[in-house]
Amino acid sequence: MADSSTPTIIKGLEGVYFTETKICKVDGLKGRLWYRGYSIESLAKNSSFEEVSYLILYGRLPKKDELDGFKARLISSMALDNGIVELLKSLNGKMLPMDILRTAVSAMPAFSEKKVYQNDSEEHIAESIEIIGRIAGVVATIGAMMNNLGYSKPDSSRGIAYNILYMMTGKKPEEKAAKMLDVMMILHAEHSSNASTFSTIVAGSTMADLYSAITAGICALKGPLHGGADEKALDMMKDIGDPNNTEKYIEDALAGKKRIMGFGHRVYKTYDPRAKVIKAYLEDIQNGSTMEVQTLTAIALKAEKLMIDKLGESKGIWPNVDFFSGPVYTYIGIPKSLFTPLFAASRSPGWCAHMLEYWQDNRLIRPLDYYNGQLDIPYTPIDQRK
Ligand code: ACO
Repeated sequence: MADSSTPTIIKGLEGVYFTETKICKVDGLKGRLWYRGYSIESLAKNSSFEEVSYLILYGRLPKKDELDGFKARLISSMALDNGIVELLKSLNGKMLPMDILRTAVSAMPAFSEKKVYQNDSEEHIAESIEIIGRIAGVVATIGAMMNNLGYSKPDSSRGIAYNILYMMTGKKPEEKAAKMLDVMMILHAEHSSNASTFSTIVAGSTMADLYSAITAGICALKGPLHGGADEKALDMMKDIGDPNNTEKYIEDALAGKKRIMGFGHRVYKTYDPRAKVIKAYLEDIQNGSTMEVQTLTAIALKAEKLMIDKLGESKGIWPNVDFFSGPVYTYIGIPKSLFTPLFAASRSPGWCAHMLEYWQDNRLIRPLDYYNGQLDIPYTPIDQRK
């Protein structure tokens, strides 16, 4: 029972600020997003995932030679140590790709030269580059194993998105697909203190190492209320099956108080600007792609309109970044169980940058919970318990 001494409890930490940052700004009412002050629309249009990763980590856009050097280090980290490849082989088919990725990231220090971590910013940047490249290499190799292929080395003349597709399929990807994946990775690269970034920071605030902190982030990303929503949204589109079934499906789901995955957001109470960029791609691929992609696209566009009519203005529930991803990834040729691992590969620069920023003025994160159970219960010996 609450009494006058009961503290105010903010469930889900909604609306709580816990730190200051210069990395990312989300304006949830206007539907705007900036990385280091650059709008997401301008980065999606003009930049690359490597350049955006540099921007997020270093706080400024690179000069040509800086970008070239940074990209070379990323791609060289995508080339996996044989021990990591053997680990992936041993787990292939026994766990979900997201679980394999989580296990691989926590095992990665075994394959790094440095085993003793120091609180040194140059070392943290080097580790961040290693982590971003390695996660991309692991995701691509899990994809290759799902295609019954072995590990391939990345092509050092190309970027991360191109190489993910190249390593997954063993074939040179179409430039349009590689470019689309690059933009998807830019859109997912950073998003302030969401559940996975906060989990990363909580783990790192204990002065655990960067690999441990990123592993915590991957664990939090997995859930369907966060990064796992893209897989669930595609499941729903497949369940609907035919665009003509969309209205009934959505009405029945809402009547049954089910959540429509890929809609709603803790911060955005309007259209997620990332979803707008992805939607434009859907309109682009609607014609000239496989029947499956065309059907998924038609269902997605119909569901979007219905949901906005029903819940947009009235409840502030709009499409988020995860809603349209399924049809786009299907067009690119990425299987559903790799969506969330790919999200992790894309988000790794954001996780690393937040951890590095927080460590500059670290304070252990340790909130309170309010105990409302009984106290001083007499201990009953086991043979006298009923
Ligand atoms: N479909 C239907 N109704 C919804 C949805 C949805 N997707 N999202 C929220 N609502 C409804 C809730 O049922 C609730 O209704 P009520 O007031 O009648 O009880 C109301 O909106 C508020 O819901 P909350 O859960 O309190 O809102 P919150 O801000 O906590 O939710 C969340 C954010 C968890 C993302 C939620 O919108 C959701 O579950 N969405 C589906 C999962 C999803 O797409 N997650 C990805 C988010 S983006 C990302 O993490 C990358």
